[in-house]
Amino acid sequence: MFSARPTSRFTISTLILLLFISFSLSAIASVPHRDDPDEDVDLEGLEELLAIDDSEEDENQKGQAGQEKLSGPEVLRRAQRVVLELSNENAKRIIDGNEYVLLLGYAPWCHRSAEMMPQFAEAAMALKEMGSPLLLAKLDAERHAKAASLLGIKGFPTLLLFVNGSSHPYTGGFTGEEIVIWARKRTGVPIIRLSSVTVAEEFLKKHQMFAVGLFENFEGHDYEEFVKAATADNEIQFVETNNIDVAVVLFPDARPKNNFLGLVKSGPERYETFEDSFEEGKILQFLDYNKFPLVTVLTEFNSIRVHSSPIKVQVYIFAEAVDFNKLLPLLQNVARKFKSKILFVYADTADDNLAKPFLTLFGLESEEPIVAAFDNENGSKYLLESDLTANSLEEFCHGLLHGTLSPYYKSEPIPDTKGIVHAVVGKTFDTLVLNSDKNVLLEVYTPWCINCEAVSKQIEQLAKHFEGLDSIIFARIDASLNEHPKLQINDYPSLLFYPSGDKLNPIKLSKKPSLKELVMFINANVKIEEDRGISTPDQTTKDEL
Ligand SMILES: *[C@@H]1O[C@H](CO)[C@@H](O)[C@H](O)[C@H]1NC(C)=O
Ligand SMILES: *[C@@H]1O[C@H](CO)[C@@H](O)[C@H](O)[C@H]1NC(C)=O
Repeated sequence: MFSARPTSRFTISTLILLLFISFSLSAIASVPHRDDPDEDVDLEGLEELLAIDDSEEDENQKGQAGQEKLSGPEVLRRAQRVVLELSNENAKRIIDGNEYVLLLGYAPWCHRSAEMMPQFAEAAMALKEMGSPLLLAKLDAERHAKAASLLGIKGFPTLLLFVNGSSHPYTGGFTGEEIVIWARKRTGVPIIRLSSVTVAEEFLKKHQMFAVGLFENFEGHDYEEFVKAATADNEIQFVETNNIDVAVVLFPDARPKNNFLGLVKSGPERYETFEDSFEEGKILQFLDYNKFPLVTVLTEFNSIRVHSSPIKVQVYIFAEAVDFNKLLPLLQNVARKFKSKILFVYADTADDNLAKPFLTLFGLESEEPIVAAFDNENGSKYLLESDLTANSLEEFCHGLLHGTLSPYYKSEPIPDTKGIVHAVVGKTFDTLVLNSDKNVLLEVYTPWCINCEAVSKQIEQLAKHFEGLDSIIFARIDASLNEHPKLQINDYPSLLFYPSGDKLNPIKLSKKPSLKELVMFINANVKIEEDRGISTPDQTTKDEL
């Protein structure tokens, strides 16, 4: 797996990327996914969809539609029938023949595709109930590779919106609800208007997070900016009303005096009031900074959103669910003090896909909760090394914001033995390499790199050859487990020569030097003490090569 081999230069962005790659890759081994019920229902599905009445959606009815009592699997089966299955034969006709098609390109073996499928089906069902003009379709991109290539499906899962046949990237979230919200914004319904208390109460039962606007006449500058923001935003449902009684159902502190905008979300700190002037950009920024709960639980669905948050300083708590639940009140109390400055994220250590890659960045493994932080602006990482208490966490957060914490560099434990080639670790890099008065030839390797072993052998031979020469140390460092701010290498193996008089400017040796070249290099750069009886390069290299 990728997560087992991060380099010392890994940033969290690479990690997020790998997280996603590894999801698809790890899925190769998973059970093939086939939804048999919809295997052969193309036309049935299409007819069902085409039969949909395009009339204006009535929000009053929407509440009731979802209340039929159906079992989970039954809902899913019904929902999947609403998703049209495309093939090489029908893809172009259906994409071109409909104003709006949201397409899911999937592969039967792909684990993330399989996770997407029920969310997509749920969205299809909800959109159908709402009378949305959007057609939801899926394509087995492996079986129908021709259609996949025609439609521009390159990975799995891929979501694309086709408007009158032309493709637009999908920019929404990945839960059923988020797909619905995004789809409606892109098909002309960016805002839901709530006109009675009953409707508002129904709405509240179904939605955890939304932005609510209170406007007297639904017109004027502020309202126009509100609509623009609702359309531009990708994931938050906007609702509007001109009735204060309706507004207070959704947002108890809503005030009718001026135009009002509030954000409602789950968990404590449920309500956030927009205090700025109504401008699209300011509204969007307000939402971006406030939409996450005090502590966000990381999932496969939200990891990209968390990472792309404008709140770049992020504190991660890695723990088992039981420990996390115990810690939650403490975390929330501290998080409240750093609202909109630091994002608090919880990753369940039981979920290898989510937590492990992050912990590997720190070279850590632990049964105990771990608190770490990332500055996504520059990729620095930090570790809370003292015990986790409200005070230690708060201090840690202050340090993060004020730049007074030392970034964390991972290191293996300091080894007991030296060996002919010294093993340097993160913690000993300063003493053994930078601050030592000797010349140092350092081999930077990783366990997985292809040429590393051969070069290691060479360096050992070299060390033996120069054994007894006091002015040079031969050393090696495993870059997958050790980091140092002054060691910024990302190709392996690398050979670095640190001259004794100029440690800050190491000389990088060529990629694949021969032993002879190495001996010559050292002879040229290191003062050879004649009386030690070190042989001349010509003699040895002849012997050894
Ligand atoms: C799609 O095409 C139809 C027919 O030409 C047109 O009326 C409609 O406005 C188009 N839709 C969009 C969103 O451009
Ligand atoms: C990253 O940014 C933080 C805060 O701005 C700063 O304290 C830290 O030194 C930076 N780290 C690097 C490697 O630039």
